[in-house]
Amino acid sequence: MRIAVPKETAPGERRIALVPESAKKLLQAGYEIAIEAGGGEAAGYPDAAYRDAGATVESDAAALLGSSDMTLKVGPPIVGGSARDEIGWMRPGAMYLGSLMPLRNPDAVRALASRGITAFSTDAIPRTTRAQSMDTLSSMANIAGYKGALLAAGELNKYFPMLMTAAGMVPPAKVFVIGAAVAGLQAIATAKRLGANVVATDVRPEVKEQIESVGGKYVGIELGEAASAGGGYAKELSEADQARQRELLAAQVAQSDVVITTALIGGIFAPRLVTADMVRSMKAGAVIVDLAADGGGNCELSRPGETVRVGGVTVLAPLNLPASMPFHASLLFSRNLTAFVQAFTKEKRFQLDFSDDIQQGALITHDGEVKHARTRDALQKGAA
Ligand code: NAI
Repeated sequence: MRIAVPKETAPGERRIALVPESAKKLLQAGYEIAIEAGGGEAAGYPDAAYRDAGATVESDAAALLGSSDMTLKVGPPIVGGSARDEIGWMRPGAMYLGSLMPLRNPDAVRALASRGITAFSTDAIPRTTRAQSMDTLSSMANIAGYKGALLAAGELNKYFPMLMTAAGMVPPAKVFVIGAAVAGLQAIATAKRLGANVVATDVRPEVKEQIESVGGKYVGIELGEAASAGGGYAKELSEADQARQRELLAAQVAQSDVVITTALIGGIFAPRLVTADMVRSMKAGAVIVDLAADGGGNCELSRPGETVRVGGVTVLAPLNLPASMPFHASLLFSRNLTAFVQAFTKEKRFQLDFSDDIQQGALITHDGEVKHARTRDALQKGAA
């Protein structure tokens, strides 16, 4: 079976879906691997490294995809209409594996279905122990949390750590992290390593211990209704709970030097949690880093992809932070995809097995249909 790895062409994207280390593993498993020329350049993986690993490097992207059984990508494949018609180039019956984000990319989902592609999205993989090594959401959220804390430290007009200097003592910065799953926990750990005083909140009370284990202090409200939606995801709070949470957030935001927000509902939509008034209550020089910007943002004043200054407060809403650390982001992403392919390889071929919970969870389109229930519902609602 032949696996193609095209260059990522989305604006600002510097990652590649497969690095030479993984190409070698898949070659050993019996696959042929072909990379689009220059595909790994921006991530620090030159064509020569792929050739050394035993892969071929090809410059005709249409021929590359058209002659392959599976395409590995970081982002969704490109829908026709431009010169780069990745979905149109794929053979009917071929497979796509990558971070499709089906709810955010309905056009790609429709095009994949009508082209007869079997598309697996790593974002839809169940968050189980067995699937952990394939979980691109976790690997990438980890990078976002780390980078988010560094961006905050770079922007803040203060030190993060407490310092005892010849010129006297400097108190530590106060960092408040909202949402403490993968990105939030890494933001807490990174801010803590830089010496800040870190407080964090979440609506799933089970994360209290996890916050404490990475050095943060938990604050939270007693919820009237459980906020867990299953699978570790949160659902939207009731109005009464939202009002109570707003009070807690207002008090905590006002006394923080840095607020890092990472809250998502159902793993995809960003609830608006930090209001414009809360931003205005912060001290001059304070910084907000909205890591939920890809999902619309947790802060009312965030403009995804831009930096906004309100009074003396800076609001950063960076998009696609993993692309800003492309070497390790590609390495981890590539290991995730490789673990998925290896798990279902028998006799040198990828075997479809929709009775397996991982394949079943990740499957978005097959045989001309949208198979993923949540995506199908969203497409039907969108079309209504
Ligand atoms: P996510 O990106 O979906 O959500 C981020 C956080 O925001 C969640 O902790 C959520 O509870 C919180 N949140 C939502 N609304 C909020 C509000 N109003 N105020 C404060 N916080 C709010 O989470 P992610 O990183 O995708 O992880 C999802 C789940 O999967 C987590 O429970 C995580 O522990 C679990 N997980 C399991 C893995 C495994 O066993 N394979 C691997 C990675 C994650």
